[in-house]
Amino acid sequence: MKSIVIYFSESGNTKKAAQFIAQETHSDIDELKPTKPYPDNYDRLVEVSGDEIDNNIHPAIDKDFNFSDYNVIYLGYPTWYHQTPMIINSFFDTYDLSNKTIIPFTTTYSSEFDESKPFIEKISATRNVKLATGFRANSDTEIKKYLTK
Ligand SMILES: Cc1cc2nc3c(=O)[nH]c(=O)nc-3n(C[C@H](O)[C@H](O)[C@H](O)COP(=O)(O)O)c2cc1C
Repeated sequence: MKSIVIYFSESGNTKKAAQFIAQETHSDIDELKPTKPYPDNYDRLVEVSGDEIDNNIHPAIDKDFNFSDYNVIYLGYPTWYHQTPMIINSFFDTYDLSNKTIIPFTTTYSSEFDESKPFIEKISATRNVKLATGFRANSDTEIKKYLTK
């Protein structure tokens, strides 16, 4: 069974978690990026990402992935506004993920995984994927706890 870690990370925390997960699970790894980068300025980032939610904007992704070789996708994202960033909607819009197992993970300041969980459940519901129980990946300990369960 071949796996890949795909992550969206704005300030590096999810990237770090993704790298650790890839190492621990012997997975390939790649980054999910919007075509139009988010602003570096925090206030502007808050504005732009909030506007995406308010207006149901699914930002375009900057590259074509081919997931045909993989059965399992670890999908990482920061929790934004107690939910999944809108690029996660774009991810499910853009790729054929039929019959793949998706294992979501998130990094957060303090939110639990359970906050973004209903959003990933809703987004993936019509996509013919197997959604695994996900987890929060705020530390190596938290990650290992999930992976060794
Ligand atoms: C726009 C925005 C909204 C956020 N909302 C939340 C939140 O609802 N709950 C939380 O615990 N952290 C929140 N955070 C903090 C991030 O989830 C946290 O810093 C995460 O680890 C960032 O991951 P990254 O470095 O991969 O981008 C938010 C950060 C940003 C920029």
